[in-house]
Amino acid sequence: MNKVCFINGSPRGINSTSKGLINKVIEMLDMQKTQSHELSVVEWRRKNTKEEDFELMSTMHAIVFVFPLYVDAIPSSLLEFMYAFDEYLTKHPCPQDYKAPKVYSIINNGFIEGKQNINALQIMAHYSTRIGYNWRFGIGIGAGEFMRETMEVIPLKSKLKQGIYNAFTVLTTDLEGQEVTGQNNIMTNPSMPKLIFTAAASRHWIKEAKMSKKTLSKRVWAEA
Ligand SMILES: Cc1cc2nc3c(=O)[nH]c(=O)nc-3n(C[C@H](O)[C@H](O)[C@H](O)COP(=O)(O)O)c2cc1C
Repeated sequence: MNKVCFINGSPRGINSTSKGLINKVIEMLDMQKTQSHELSVVEWRRKNTKEEDFELMSTMHAIVFVFPLYVDAIPSSLLEFMYAFDEYLTKHPCPQDYKAPKVYSIINNGFIEGKQNINALQIMAHYSTRIGYNWRFGIGIGAGEFMRETMEVIPLKSKLKQGIYNAFTVLTTDLEGQEVTGQNNIMTNPSMPKLIFTAAASRHWIKEAKMSKKTLSKRVWAEA
């Protein structure tokens, strides 16, 4: 039985796209072959006994870091978690016959292009090597806010999200399997014209800002 731990690295916690994506991957996993665990960086930061989560992580066969892209990189709270785990592993060296866990990452970003996650995926690959774990591959997903809003309304198997479904199929097959074959990072996003995405995203953010387009423009220019 392969033990897999999903780390939700979004500061939004359970309300995040990251959490929705974790749920979808877990739904696709064969529970006869894998046992899944979940940790959240938001909850870890609130804990007094922070090492408990690291103890669990160090018993896993695979770890999947799932988080949003922040300024082309990693949210600072997740970075804090990663540094702390690195420190924990230095203090608790693994036995010699220990097989290093595999590491994967799913990063979602606001813009439509999933390929914007490439630099952050490279950071995750370097991190895995640094802690002595085996980097496998990552998935970059664009239009993260759209994914969050439509998580339960538009299925992953729909034509619009087929690329994400295919990427998750590759991931779950790898998580369930023993043999290790090469796999590159997968960059994907919902398949829709950029113009339609931009128009919908603009409407979404004006709604989120809770002010009219005119007031928002004035505010942006005043603060520029
Ligand atoms: C501080 C901050 C920085 C961000 N930087 C980027 C960025 O560089 N590129 C991008 O495409 N989206 C960026 N975003 C958008 C998030 O990646 C996007 O909203 C994502 O879907 C949030 O996922 P979550 O719900 O899992 O946290 C940023 C958002 C915030 C709050």
